[in-house]
Amino acid sequence: MIEKGVDIAPAEGKLGILLVGLGAVSTTLVAGVEAVKRGISEPVGSLTQMGTIRLGKRTDNRAPKIKDFVPIADLNDIVFGAWDIFHDTAYEAAMNAGVLEKDLVNQLSEPLSSLKPMAAVFEQNYVKRITGENVKTGKNKMDLAEQLIDDIAKFKSDNGCDRLVMVWAASTEIYVEESEVHKSLEVFEKAMYDSDPRIAPSMIYAYAALKSGVPFANGAPNLTVDIPAMVELAEQTKMPICGKDFKTGQTLMKTILAPGLKSRMLGLDGWYSTNILGNRDGEVLDDPENFKSKEVSKLSVLEHIFQPEVYPDLYGNFSHVVRINYYPPRGDNKEGWDNIDIFGWLGYKMQIKIDFLCRDSILAAPLALDLALFMDLAQRAKMKGVQEWLSFYYKAPQTAPGLYPEHDIFIQLMKLKNTLRHMRGEELITHLGLEYYD
Ligand SMILES: NC(=O)c1ccc[n+]([C@@H]2O[C@H](COP(=O)([O-])OP(=O)(O)OC[C@H]3O[C@@H](n4cnc5c(N)ncnc54)[C@H](O)[C@@H]3O)[C@@H](O)[C@H]2O)c1
Repeated sequence: MIEKGVDIAPAEGKLGILLVGLGAVSTTLVAGVEAVKRGISEPVGSLTQMGTIRLGKRTDNRAPKIKDFVPIADLNDIVFGAWDIFHDTAYEAAMNAGVLEKDLVNQLSEPLSSLKPMAAVFEQNYVKRITGENVKTGKNKMDLAEQLIDDIAKFKSDNGCDRLVMVWAASTEIYVEESEVHKSLEVFEKAMYDSDPRIAPSMIYAYAALKSGVPFANGAPNLTVDIPAMVELAEQTKMPICGKDFKTGQTLMKTILAPGLKSRMLGLDGWYSTNILGNRDGEVLDDPENFKSKEVSKLSVLEHIFQPEVYPDLYGNFSHVVRINYYPPRGDNKEGWDNIDIFGWLGYKMQIKIDFLCRDSILAAPLALDLALFMDLAQRAKMKGVQEWLSFYYKAPQTAPGLYPEHDIFIQLMKLKNTLRHMRGEELITHLGLEYYD
């Protein structure tokens, strides 16, 4: 629970953003921040940097930038750290990822080359298609967590950081369901000493982060912090957590379009989605067990938005299919196809086709930045536990137990902005607007 008009500690000193995984998303994020700092580009796609927030009445003309309304860390105060299973620096990894033009990467070669990944906690069973050398060894999973805790402390002191946040932007792990080792912190810690196979590497990072007083945001669909043990640890250490799975290409489009169709009470027979993708993420997701994590995350969206149980005549029987096809020539430039079969008045059928020629990491990088900055804000505002107001950024938002997630992007944005207003003690905006007609 967060009080209205809470005291928020100022964003003074350096903020360290610790990235798990130094692949396409992370290097695009780091390069982008460095480019913005040098005036080479604008932070397009980032709500914290470009967004405004209306305050008071429509006639008040008060709409400051979000970063002027709440104390968000300045991009010049950010230092990046990372872990990866490969030794490549951010410069080499950005060149390999091929998201950004070589000329741009070369202009940023100095900050990118100096970002060298720390040795990762990795388990082949969790990510089948890639193998790297830059990996820690330890006597058990708790020992690995302690090594990460040491990395975090060393990074903080070496870089003179005032605060840290951790963002998971590493490969999607295989699908795991919550089981008894995840149910409480006590059992979880014992299972760490026993190196229980149900404890994923991502959970070890999250454990190390929370133990070190570092907020944790999860950009992939793995369970990670979405288990009772981690919620308990976040409460205990008073740290904010959030997840899962950045909402970028196709799911972004779905959560923009589906609420609109539903608002007009148009029916749905089916929604077929397929992607062709050729980056390393696509390669990892080509394995059925890794794809399963992504599929579960992508499928839940429409069920929640359309509420078939409330509108059986319109949405009681729609078919929803999601595919990802690994196709190397496309690299990071994914193509997301959607065929949507809808029906209208008197049941007449219509179709919508979407062909989104997007760029995965260009869409994801500003989300990772916003999440890091908002999680830092949350920790300074003493907001602990699950940060549902950050659902806006996620395909499968983590919520309190028993609560269904809000997927409608417009509700998510209203929730986010109202949370900021609440933090600052401003009136919430309900859009009732009767006062203009008194
Ligand atoms: N780009 C998007 O639009 C998008 C959207 C939603 C989610 N995601 C997720 O974000 C993550 C990153 O995507 P990407 O395109 O940068 O992938 P990527 O394959 O380019 O990068 C992931 C990096 O993580 C590293 N890695 C794997 N396991 C690790 C571990 N245990 N510890 C440290 N490093 C590890 C890999 O070596 C790789 O360099 C993926 O899980 C992806 O599914 C991306």
